[in-house]
Amino acid sequence: MSKHSTPKDRAAKLRDEINYHNYRYYVLDDPEIPDAEYDRLMRELQEIEQAHSELITPDSPTQRVGGAPLEEFAKVRHRVPMLSLNNAFSDEEVDDFVRRIQERMNSEECEFTAEPKMDGLAISLVYEKGLLVQGSTRGDGTTGEDVTQNVRTIPSIALRLIDQDYPPRLEVRGEVYMTRAAFAALNRRQAENDEKLFANPRNAAAGALRQLDPRITAQRNLEFVSYGIGHVEGWDLPATQSATLEQLKKWGVRISSELEVVRGEKGCLDYYARMQARRDGLPFEIDGVVYKLNALEQQQAMGFVAKAPRWALAHKFPAQEESTRLLGIDVQVGRTGAITPVARLEPVFVGGVTVTNATLHNQDEIDRKDVRVGDTVIVRRAGDVIPEVAGVVLSRRPQGAKKFHMPTHCPVCGSNIVREEGEAIAYCTGGLVCAAQRKGAIAHFASRRAMDIEGLGHKLIDQLVDTELVHNVSDIYALTMKQLADLERMGEKSAQNLVDGIEASKATTLPRFLYALGIRNVGEATALGLAQHFGDLKPLIHADAEALQQVPDIGPVVAQSIASFFSEAHNRKVIEKLVSAGIHWPEVERPAESAIAGKTFVITGTLDAMSRDEAKVKLQQRGAKVSGSVSKKTDYVIVGADPGSKADKARELGVEILDEAALLKLLA
Ligand code: IVH
Repeated sequence: MSKHSTPKDRAAKLRDEINYHNYRYYVLDDPEIPDAEYDRLMRELQEIEQAHSELITPDSPTQRVGGAPLEEFAKVRHRVPMLSLNNAFSDEEVDDFVRRIQERMNSEECEFTAEPKMDGLAISLVYEKGLLVQGSTRGDGTTGEDVTQNVRTIPSIALRLIDQDYPPRLEVRGEVYMTRAAFAALNRRQAENDEKLFANPRNAAAGALRQLDPRITAQRNLEFVSYGIGHVEGWDLPATQSATLEQLKKWGVRISSELEVVRGEKGCLDYYARMQARRDGLPFEIDGVVYKLNALEQQQAMGFVAKAPRWALAHKFPAQEESTRLLGIDVQVGRTGAITPVARLEPVFVGGVTVTNATLHNQDEIDRKDVRVGDTVIVRRAGDVIPEVAGVVLSRRPQGAKKFHMPTHCPVCGSNIVREEGEAIAYCTGGLVCAAQRKGAIAHFASRRAMDIEGLGHKLIDQLVDTELVHNVSDIYALTMKQLADLERMGEKSAQNLVDGIEASKATTLPRFLYALGIRNVGEATALGLAQHFGDLKPLIHADAEALQQVPDIGPVVAQSIASFFSEAHNRKVIEKLVSAGIHWPEVERPAESAIAGKTFVITGTLDAMSRDEAKVKLQQRGAKVSGSVSKKTDYVIVGADPGSKADKARELGVEILDEAALLKLLA
């Protein structure tokens, strides 16, 4: 309990706060605080009420399911209330749950279904005589909103059940959600149109489902997966939850492809661990897994407490969003001069690590999210992605919170900062005068996928640039043992290792070398294309923009970046020095020898052995083209796990489909 007050006062305060956040979440579709924080408020209130039952009020948020429905949609009364789930945050809580059930059932090991807890929103779908007649949101659990027109736009929702023996009236329940890909695409479009950004896929899905105009919903690419039945007439439910879901599937209702039947606590925890390991690789967000006692008879025996079944449990993953205070905003200068505003945060534990900095991307994003210094902000760290500020808790904005303005001069070199008309990113104009850009360029040059100079990390690069031993990348190859050994915190041995690392890096490949140069808009794939097209460095250096555009996948913008890079005398000079220092590469392999040269591939879904990007580079190295969309010109579509609509498109167009095993064979 907090230091503030008596339990009574604290409970009243918590109720107000939770009610406010319920309203934001359920009514406005615009939550202000991360779920993890909401859960904590709710837990604190539940604990107080448990300890002092006389404090429970009939209107306490613990006594009902959600918020009141919006006015605009017609109201729908659920025949069977839409309940929620109890949460577990630790193995011990799962142990309690399983043990209580097994004791009550007098069983050593009960069966449970296990499936992902989809991070979307609950939906009820009514089918009459096999036809979808109504879709409604959960609302406050008793009364929701009629969003039939909207759910009808969701491709994964069946408009008509298949098979014949379905019941005359069937209410299916499940989750509407947005994939990560659809979410990213939506936010890209929002940004292009200068519109508000969504903090996460769930908010975006909620916003899409609550559109009064179904045409907008249709454009948002929502998906649906069912996790059960609400109400049914004229049909006897099967004996188990898993059989019920299998039957739904037969009728054409989408259920989770991850559904499993597990046994006892061990089975549950094992499923949890496996899903957690795969969490970041899934095409959609999940915030935990859900266990349900499989036998219907046993479910009925366990019954319900207040708003949740005793026979089901949501086992949550550690939160990927937390709130903290924004202490200040600095700007960072990248190797191309790109200026990135970075949030300095009060340290917060999120996504498994303590985060003190998070990216704010650019000025437009800051404006669109209305982020101000002093605000309480939502920090998001999902998977390996750099932590970002996803939004602001406006109700906690202190007086005098300050807006951010991009500095007019580079904090490192003092040169002007400019932002071109129509560009989101501001750049330092200092070029090689700017130490930050030089350091960034050197770090990129030395990085693993470029020249791969072992032992040359960020700290050392700072030292080398600050002591003026290295001005540009060619100076690396002039460094002597003595110069290195004299550096602070540098021993004889590490100096020797670095000298060896530098020496070893001289034997490279042309694509790596081109990538290492850090030409704007030239990533690994483009570097490879250039090397294969021109065969050697000389013809490339002398190519004009027109000649450069003959290279597959190089358009006018990229061609111009490359041509301007090589037209700068100081860049050519650095290249000359690098080559005379002994950097060399074998003759570029001609791609035409491979069987897949010239063929066009599209990759969809998650691959096991490598990322899609790695697969792309490998295919390109063999002379194949890799495109982002399927058309009649596509030769092969590689389909990994959980493929997107591209696989369907391929089938439609009769394009040959290969699985990962076939891809590996082609690459071998
Ligand atoms: S079962 C009475 N299964 O989580 C049980 N819910 O906190 C009703 N959810 O409102 C829900 N994935 O929107 C169930 N596999 C799953 C789920 C799931 C996500 C959501 C659902 C529900 C909330 C409960």
